[in-house]
Parts: sequence; structure tokens; C-alpha cells
Amino acid sequence: MAPLSSAITRNTGRRTTFITRAEVRPAMTTDPLDAIFSPSSIAIVGASRSRGKIGYEILHNLILNDYQGTIYPVNPKARSVHGIPAYPSVLSMPGPVDLAIITVPVDVALAVVEECGRKGVRGLVVITAGFRGVGGAGIGLEERLLALCREYGMTMVGPNCMGVINTSPDIQMDATFAPTPPLRGGISLVTQSGALGVAILDHAKSLGVGFAKFCSLGNKAQVSLNDVLAAWKGDPETKIILAYIENFGNPKNFVRIARDATKRKPVIAMKSGRSEAGGRAAMSHTGSLGGSDLAAEAVFNQTGVLRANSIEELFDYAMAFNLQPLPKGPRVAVVSDAGGPAIMCVDELSAQGLTMAEFTRATEEALRAWAPAEASIQNPIDLTPQGTIEDYRKALDAVLSDPNVDAAIAIYVPPVRVDEAEVARVVWQTAKRHRKPVLCNFLGRSEASAGFIELVSHGVPSYLFPESAARALAAMHRHAEYLKREEGKVHTFKVDRSRAQEVVDAARATGRTRLTEIDAARGPGAYGGHVVESRAPAGAHRGA
Ligand code: COA
Repeated sequence: MAPLSSAITRNTGRRTTFITRAEVRPAMTTDPLDAIFSPSSIAIVGASRSRGKIGYEILHNLILNDYQGTIYPVNPKARSVHGIPAYPSVLSMPGPVDLAIITVPVDVALAVVEECGRKGVRGLVVITAGFRGVGGAGIGLEERLLALCREYGMTMVGPNCMGVINTSPDIQMDATFAPTPPLRGGISLVTQSGALGVAILDHAKSLGVGFAKFCSLGNKAQVSLNDVLAAWKGDPETKIILAYIENFGNPKNFVRIARDATKRKPVIAMKSGRSEAGGRAAMSHTGSLGGSDLAAEAVFNQTGVLRANSIEELFDYAMAFNLQPLPKGPRVAVVSDAGGPAIMCVDELSAQGLTMAEFTRATEEALRAWAPAEASIQNPIDLTPQGTIEDYRKALDAVLSDPNVDAAIAIYVPPVRVDEAEVARVVWQTAKRHRKPVLCNFLGRSEASAGFIELVSHGVPSYLFPESAARALAAMHRHAEYLKREEGKVHTFKVDRSRAQEVVDAARATGRTRLTEIDAARGPGAYGGHVVESRAPAGAHRGA
């Protein structure tokens, strides 16, 4: 039994009960993000009395989603907000505050952050915008904000962010102003765009995909993508990490941390700024450089991070990893009731480096024994619309029992006369009998369809199009292969840093932010590589 002095209040919005600190906080860790994701008490500094304002909405979300610690609204103009007593400042509060969410305008933000420091607040989530992202005076403000965090030893997420979420039953913290509270699940999402984060949470709910944690990084003034990745790679509640990335603050660190993370769990990333114009837009969004997309691609390849090319693909992959086991090899069987989509699927599987399984003689004979006369029993199997639900079940069962098959994609074009939920039931029930991944495509059927809901709620991912299912399976295969890959050795080369620095300095001196081909060729030389010396031809025009 914990001593009474360590008791804090649990506020469920309607009733307040006494619980002990030990009950609220999971096992103590030295993780500096503990104050952000597992706080025992939260102050909302700038908790507005007006519905629709950010400070109000965050307080509302904390209450609505049953945050398990103490909530302190801070607002000098209010006696209470949302029925909870308000304080004029964090300094006037009776108890300790682990986390402060800052939702006051930028001109008072530094003053309230300083008060948080004096109060002994351990973590800050700064929602307020108007810092580095706006340039000019905002850059200096962000530096002062950071200096305050350093001075008082506070860990800060933001500024200019959307907030954080931890759905763990011990915490139940939705400290965002997102309208959709996420379902609980094993996916954690870190994002450099708050708005995109909200869209992802929203879409995830419609797919039945649940989250463990969410972190909107904002300007990444202090807590970075690398910090979050480092914390979540060892987080037992996070099974899959999703990341929306606009730039890498410290790519070298990212490589080190991501390599370790991908050995433990899948990391799926969407990186924007592929084009030069996109890179420039990313820079003005959060005030930091986007960097070359080629370099990002190389980083992902080296670290085993799976790159998704769109939000849709991010979900496609997440759903597959979340619901199905990894394939043991590249051999895929396709079972379909229509030739066209099956061929599209095969094309995409081949493009992604997967192979079509060659069925054993036993499987072929079993299929031939009962398949409709019109059916094609070669891989991809096309049962044609003549195939019954029972035919479909037997075909899927036969290929999944075949030792030459590592995974299956079930394609179904629901004809009018068939109950699609019944077909979906047959697919998940058959999939459950085997330890091989099964992905499904109910052609043209949306997330609201009965077949989709039946499949996904029973652990089989379903996709709108056959190519999406093929790409998701290929991502699982890439991850499985990456896990099997030998660690390899990191070679270090003798480096002539000053020579490399000269090349960079010379480019900078002429106002360039990119190296020319000739400059770049000198780089490997400085790093011990053998490069044929190259020179621009005499009289060549600049940029020709
Ligand atoms: N301590 C505590 N509360 C204070 C305060 C202080 N020193 N000074 C003012 N407040 C209160 C205000 O009285 C107000 O409460 P009220 O509505 O009950 O009067 C509340 O803080 C909010 O202040 P207000 O001036 O109404 O600001 P706002 O809600 O219109 O805007 C921000 C505040 C932070 C939302 C805004 O400045 C901002 O930065 N917006 C952009 C946020 C964003 O986009 N972030 C990135 C998302 S991805």
C-alpha cells in the first residue's frame, strides 16, 4: 500500500477518485520521454473557456478519453473550465505537474514556459505556433524557448505541434485537438505534420486500425524523430512504428537508431519532399531543410525502413503487418473469381520481386477433382463467377496447404447474387487454419462494405484493388528478408576531412547549396575512394 502522501487524484470528468501514483505510472524508466507520454498530472496552460479554441479542445479530449491522472486547467481569466477548477498560473497549483501543454499565444508563451520551469514541470508539449517556421523574430523566440528547456531540464515536444497520445489503459491520454480519438492498438505514429497526423488518425478509425502512441513533432526544436524512434523501438506496446517525415535532423543518428528499431519491429515511413519544389515547401513548413530524396531512399534501404509512397500505402502496409504473419518466402498463390484482377495482381507481384508459386501435383489433382469446368486451376486460380463459395473455400484451403506456397492473395469480385460477408467469413476462417499470410481484395468494395468489415475485424487485411494487396505483401516479404540478412560489417575509411571540407566551403562561398558533379567526384577521393580526376572543358558555360 502506497503512503497517503503519494496519492493523487484520478479525474474521469464526472467523478474524482483517489488512486496511488504507483497505480498511474507504469514501471519507472529513465526514458526522458516518460514525462511526455506517461505523465501523472497535466496542466493545460491556456485552457480556453470557449469551445472550438485549441486549449479548450485539448482539455475536452483529455476528459472525454478518461485521462488517468490529474488535470489542471490554467487560465488567469477563469475560475473553472469544463467544470474543473482553474488556476491563474502553474505556480499557483497545489501539486506537482509532470506535463504542461502550452496553448497560449506566442507573445506570452515564453513567460508561461519560464513559470513551468520554476514549477519543476518535467515535460512540455508546445502547441503554439509563431516560432522558427515564420522566420525572422520567430527564430530567436525558438532559441529562447529551447534555452529555457535546457535551463530547467524540461523535455519539449514542438513548438507548432498537434499534441501527443498514449492509449495505454494506465494513462489514456489524448492530449491533442484532433476530433477523432484513436482506437487502442499496436501502432505508434510519429509525424512532422500535425494536420496529416489528424487525417491518419481519422482514416485509421474507419479501417478499424488502433494506435498505442501518437506524437506530432512540430518544429522538432528539441525532441526529434530520432528521440521518438529510440524510445518506441523498445516500447512493448508499440508493435509497428509509422512515421511521416519531411526531413532528417541528424541522418547519421537516424541510421543507427532505425537499424536497431527495424530488427525489433517494422518501421514504415512516408517521406515527402520528393521533388525540389516539395523540398522547398517542407522547408517553409517547419523551418528546416528537406535534404535530397535520393539520400533519403539510400537511408531507408540501408536501415530496413519500409518506404510508403502515399498515405494510402502507409495504411495498406500497416494493416498487413498489423494483422498477418510474415511470409517465409516469395512464392504467392492467387485465388480469384475473375481473370482480369488476378492478372493485374500477378503483374504487380512480379514487379515487386515476388514469384508465382508452382503448385505440387497433389494440389493440382485436388483442385481438378472438384473445380468448375470453366475454372483455370493454374496459379492464378480463376474460379470464374461459376465458382461457389464452397469452391472458393476449398481452393484457398488447398493452396495454403501446399508446401510450395508462402502466402496467398484472395481476390473476389462480389457478384450481385452472393452475400459478400459470407465469402469474407470463408476467407478469414480458412486463413486462420494456416500460418501463412492471406491478404484480400474485394474489388471495388470500400471500407464501409460488409465484406471489408467482416475481414478486417477477423484479422484479414482487405484492399480496394489487387495491386495494393500485392504491394503490401511485397513489403512484408522485404521486411522478412531484411530480418534474415546478415548484419554485415561497418568499414571505416581514412578520411581527409579538410579536403572534403574545402570542396563544401568552395561551393558555399559561391552561394550554392548543392555540389556539382565535379565537386562531388572530389568527395570520394577525400574519403579514400579512387576517382578519375575530372575537369570542366575549357570555355564550358556555367550550368551548361
Ligand atoms: N496563462 C494561461 N492562460 C492564458 C494566459 C496565460 N498567461 N494568457 C492568456 N491565456 C488564456 C486566454 O485568456 C484564453 O482563454 P479564454 O479564451 O478563456 O479567454 C486562452 O489562453 C487562449 O488564448 P487566446 O488569446 O484566446 O488564443 P487562441 O486560443 O486564439 O490561440 C494558439 C492560441 C496557441 C492556438 C495560437 O496562438 C496558435 O499558435 N495557433 C496555431 C497553433 C497551431 O497551428 N499549431 C500547430 C498545429 S499542427
